[in-house]
Amino acid sequence: MKRAEEQEQGGDGAVRCSCRCSVTVLRLGHRPERDKRVTTHLGLVARALGARGLLLTSEDKAVVRSIREVTKRWGGDFFLQTGVKWREEIARWKEGGGKVCHLTMYGENILDVIDEIRESAARILVVVGAEKVPPEVYQLADWNIAVGNQPHSEIAALALFLDHLYMGSELRARFEHAELEIIPNRAGKKVRRV
Ligand SMILES: C[S@@+](CC[C@H](N)C(=O)[O-])C[C@H]1O[C@@H](n2cnc3c(N)ncnc32)[C@H](O)[C@@H]1O
Repeated sequence: MKRAEEQEQGGDGAVRCSCRCSVTVLRLGHRPERDKRVTTHLGLVARALGARGLLLTSEDKAVVRSIREVTKRWGGDFFLQTGVKWREEIARWKEGGGKVCHLTMYGENILDVIDEIRESAARILVVVGAEKVPPEVYQLADWNIAVGNQPHSEIAALALFLDHLYMGSELRARFEHAELEIIPNRAGKKVRRV
């Protein structure tokens, strides 16, 4: 396992461990009336744990606003794109040499595939669902990955996927051009203006 000190930050502000995998998250089936909070948290986790950006298949200005506000204050170049057509995006991704990892409890256990992914994929599109995921996604994915074979949450599944991919190095990340930075402290809160 690589040590946390070996993590690097790319020029784009994204976190990379020495495997240099660059991750973008595709959120399928976001329903603005029901999924606002979960999708916002998915984006915040994606950003904080080293992904480059979040693609949404629908429009939701509130989700975009919340995540952009966090990025402005806390740094990095996390990007958001809405109204993405998932079939075209997956096809474009694969044509460009990227790999597609679909997180699903029905897939192969993450512990059995994560080394192979880290070694063979430089650009990864991680697909996570909200409502039922179309069967075609299972066929198009290079890997269908189960973060354990029990139903739980897309936020937890993404967090564990990124942590296993980056082997913990993402937890030491520092984000470029932040307005605020936390000084870790055993008791109380210390934040400095950068
Ligand atoms: C709350 S689940 C709903 C899934 C939906 N009912 C279905 O059958 O496809 C939403 C998303 O969480 C993710 N997820 C939930 N449990 C998972 C697990 N054990 N492993 C990987 N991903 C998981 C998947 O991406 C899934 O599409």
